[in-house]
Amino acid sequence: MSNQVHIVEMGPRDGLQNEKTPVSVEARIAFVEALVAAGLNTVEVGAFVSPKAIPQMASSDAVLRGAGHIKDAEFHVLVPNEKGYDAARAAGAQVVSVFAAASEGFSRANINCSIAESIERFKPVLARAKTDGVKVRGYISCVLGCPFDGEIKPKAVADLAVTLWDLGCYEISLGDTIGVGTPLKAREMLRAVGAELPVANLAMHFHDTYGQALANLYAGMEEGVRVIDSAAGGLGGCPYAPGATGNVATEDVVYMLEGMGVNTGVDMEKLLAATNEVAGLLGRPPVSRVASALNAKRKRLSGL
Ligand code: HMG
Ligand code: MG
Repeated sequence: MSNQVHIVEMGPRDGLQNEKTPVSVEARIAFVEALVAAGLNTVEVGAFVSPKAIPQMASSDAVLRGAGHIKDAEFHVLVPNEKGYDAARAAGAQVVSVFAAASEGFSRANINCSIAESIERFKPVLARAKTDGVKVRGYISCVLGCPFDGEIKPKAVADLAVTLWDLGCYEISLGDTIGVGTPLKAREMLRAVGAELPVANLAMHFHDTYGQALANLYAGMEEGVRVIDSAAGGLGGCPYAPGATGNVATEDVVYMLEGMGVNTGVDMEKLLAATNEVAGLLGRPPVSRVASALNAKRKRLSGL
């Protein structure tokens, strides 16, 4: 397999958006700093959405501004509409992500509109971003199943991916929001999208609810996809996706890739430190298998 994989770190956004324990702006900025120091140079740091809908992402402007001093890193933020775009730009955003869904049920639950209406909301965002020289990433949720509508046809995902691409998104991130996918289904979906768009511009955003995320990522890598979204510690989940748990953990992805001879540029010790720090703030150990294993090993070696 080619030695080039790009990890887009989700911890400070997807990772924290569903947490009950509030995390301060200072701690969110420190988390971003720690992740970049660990070698994760693309980090989604917040969301410019309704603070009534997602209070955890309030003050994303302060987080983005606070991370502004960090060099050699690219920061992403979610924007659902022009209001979000205005606020993101005022805080200095250079990359924004719009987010659609492959199912009507999830679109309605998450952003309170139909898929077609969401595209209408994104059009002015993409038009303005083009004028402003801002990059726009496009997410599609529920690509392997929806908590409301059930099965999702790969063609529905491919059609929506083409729509977002034609609007000007530079990369389409395909979200298994509720982590129900299995490798052959992931492959089928990626083949359907890859038949329409360059595989180099696709990303895999797999939640690990059923423990399938690494296997699904491997299947996607066999299809040539080389961009992976993951969250330190396996944090994450969407409050509007019943039953969803965290993103695939960055440690687990890094461990798998390095074991396959793929150089990620990530310092595992520093990543583990960042994961443990945020887990401490949330008051529970990280769920990721690799973080648990490395923490247990450390404990053994220190004779505790
Ligand atoms: P709406 O109710 O349709 O919008 O919400 P509206 O225009 O009627 O406005 C309603 C209220 O929201 C108004 O405030 C607006 O000002 C405010 P009020 O008058 O009630 O005080 N508002 C905003 N405030 C801040 N920023 C904005 C904004 N827009 C409107 N940009 C809306 C539509 C999208 C805003 C709402 O439904 C929302 O914020 N939803 C949250 C969606 C969300 O963040 N979900 C989680 C992230 S997506 C995800 O996790 C999936 C992903 O990880 C991929 C995967 O795993 O599949 C990306
Ligand atoms: Mg997600």
